[in-house]
Amino acid sequence: MKVLISGGSGLIGREISEQLLRKGHQVGWLSRSSIKENPQIQVFSWDPDRMEIDPAAIEFADAVINLAGASIAERWTPHYKNIILRSRVDGTRLLFNRFREDGKSLKAFVSASAVGYYPNSEDELFTEDSAPGSDFLSLICQKWEQEAQNFEELNIRTVRLRIGIVLDPEEGALSQMAAPLKWGFGAPLGNGKQWMPWIHRYDLAAMFVHALENESVSTGVYNAVGPKNLRNAELTTTLAKVLKKPLFLPPVPAFMLKLLLGEMAAIALASTKCSNSKICSTGFQYQFTSLESALKELYLR
Ligand SMILES: NC(=O)c1ccc[n+]([C@@H]2O[C@H](COP(=O)([O-])OP(=O)(O)OC[C@H]3O[C@@H](n4cnc5c(N)ncnc54)[C@H](OP(=O)(O)O)[C@@H]3O)[C@@H](O)[C@H]2O)c1
Repeated sequence: MKVLISGGSGLIGREISEQLLRKGHQVGWLSRSSIKENPQIQVFSWDPDRMEIDPAAIEFADAVINLAGASIAERWTPHYKNIILRSRVDGTRLLFNRFREDGKSLKAFVSASAVGYYPNSEDELFTEDSAPGSDFLSLICQKWEQEAQNFEELNIRTVRLRIGIVLDPEEGALSQMAAPLKWGFGAPLGNGKQWMPWIHRYDLAAMFVHALENESVSTGVYNAVGPKNLRNAELTTTLAKVLKKPLFLPPVPAFMLKLLLGEMAAIALASTKCSNSKICSTGFQYQFTSLESALKELYLR
């Protein structure tokens, strides 16, 4: 299958691309730059701001994975919040408009969303049917998912994956948590009780590939989280153990995080306990069934 990935050059896209290539699929990236990282991957240019896309990308695609979006780990000024929103909504809309105009069908359209869709809760277990939150991240996810859902009108199997915290030692939330630990300043964040829906980057990429290849993953939304929900304090303690670093500092209070990070502190303080039953019922199996095994593979292999 020829799989076109928007934002394929990012953390998740690179891992998905490797897995697809290993399975004999062809991979193309939609990118705002023309960097060639891997000769096996065709790079097609697009500019969602100008609603421009290389028509060869549409011709190439048998299926699409939609990941593109500006990082949320930048200070949330009003201007930057708009970039976070527009980069997801405009990119997805551009794809929809072009596939609709072209009349080209796809085997599947699999789009990223995030568990930020749900509100904060220390006790509720969120399923795909749970009501959305009302904060900034939730509104982004709702608008992004609505754009992706338009592909259903084209009779294309349309899957939206609400992604948890993707574990990678070099990029994303885990690397930010590990950095102070390595210097001996690690500590749980806030009250440490917030639920953190982690998933190893390999398992997340495998979930995208599973959703792409299997009709059993029917049109709809799926939580893309790991096999076990853990609280921030448990995650920090396990990380310290795997890195063989002491953890003696008291938790970093929420007000301090808000002073340091502004509104973006919401990411570190969010509490989301998510059910993975729906994706498991489609036959998906994890490679990493415990946080410790996931962290050991990432840091000690
Ligand atoms: N990593 C996580 O823990 C996590 C959790 C939940 C949801 N997600 C979502 O999953 C998606 C992929 O995540 P990731 O970690 O792979 O992200 P990433 O490493 O930041 O990569 C995202 C890609 O999107 C493209 N991009 C960046 N800014 C853009 C803009 N303004 N307009 C259009 N495209 C832009 C970039 O590709 P080019 O520079 O090549 O154009 C970039 O490589 C993201 O949308 C993210 O919000 C990630």
